[in-house]
Amino acid sequence: MKIAILGTGTVGQTLAAKLDSIGHDVTIGTRDPAETLARDAKDAYGNPPYKVWAAAHPRIRLDTLANAAAHGETILNALSGAGSLPGLELAGEANLDGKILLDIANPLDFSNGMPPSLFVSNTDSLGEQIQKRFPKTRIVKALNTVSAHLMVDPGQLAGGDHTMFVSGDDPAARRQVTSWLTEWFGWRDVIELGDISTARGTEQLLPLWVRTWGALKTPMFSFRVVR
Ligand SMILES: NC(=O)c1ccc[n+]([C@@H]2O[C@H](COP(=O)([O-])OP(=O)(O)OC[C@H]3O[C@@H](n4cnc5c(N)ncnc54)[C@H](OP(=O)(O)O)[C@@H]3O)[C@@H](O)[C@H]2O)c1
Repeated sequence: MKIAILGTGTVGQTLAAKLDSIGHDVTIGTRDPAETLARDAKDAYGNPPYKVWAAAHPRIRLDTLANAAAHGETILNALSGAGSLPGLELAGEANLDGKILLDIANPLDFSNGMPPSLFVSNTDSLGEQIQKRFPKTRIVKALNTVSAHLMVDPGQLAGGDHTMFVSGDDPAARRQVTSWLTEWFGWRDVIELGDISTARGTEQLLPLWVRTWGALKTPMFSFRVVR
């Protein structure tokens, strides 16, 4: 499948490498490809600059957000929370219309330092804001409650016995994403929460997620719903 991944950070790179390795045709979108490839500094988490990762993944193209979105039959949003709506504007409504957009972004606000707060919560969510702005795109929120490495390989933890949540207004799109999570990445316990307003619940897990990270000193943990 032709897949666009919007976002050049750890999430974009990790998803791109996995999807490329299982035979998908992946283009990553960034605001300015030349500027992204010219970066020399490590990112905020100490990862090498994008060009180092790109050199090890020569099949994966880097393009503008609009060209990547035009390429993708399906779109994955791995932009920062604050960058998601501006980045999707650059991707262009016409390039998103009718497609499933798997939204992984969290509305984290780092303006007051660590731990971050949420810039939207309680009565709204980033997933809903994206769905309202792009009504013809089928937004499905998932994968935002685990670190990037667990997104594509949940079996690294507890034999894969932990839970992923899926939110979206279109039941067929939710089911499609659920089956991709299983086929592509090996998720076995997926709960379809319901319409996109249920993303309020999973985005609001992040304040707990960041504090658990602080206590455990590792992002290799997840939530499991015990019935
Ligand atoms: N890191 C994780 O393990 C993890 C886990 C769960 C969920 N998430 C969520 O996944 C998303 C990606 O996380 P990440 O850690 O890979 O990277 P990130 O540092 O949160 O985001 C990097 C991406 O955001 C884009 N961006 C930043 N500001 C922008 C703006 N004003 N307009 C448009 N785009 C902008 C950058 O674009 P350029 O390429 O143009 O610079 C880059 O592609 C985030 O929303 C995060 O909350 C992350």
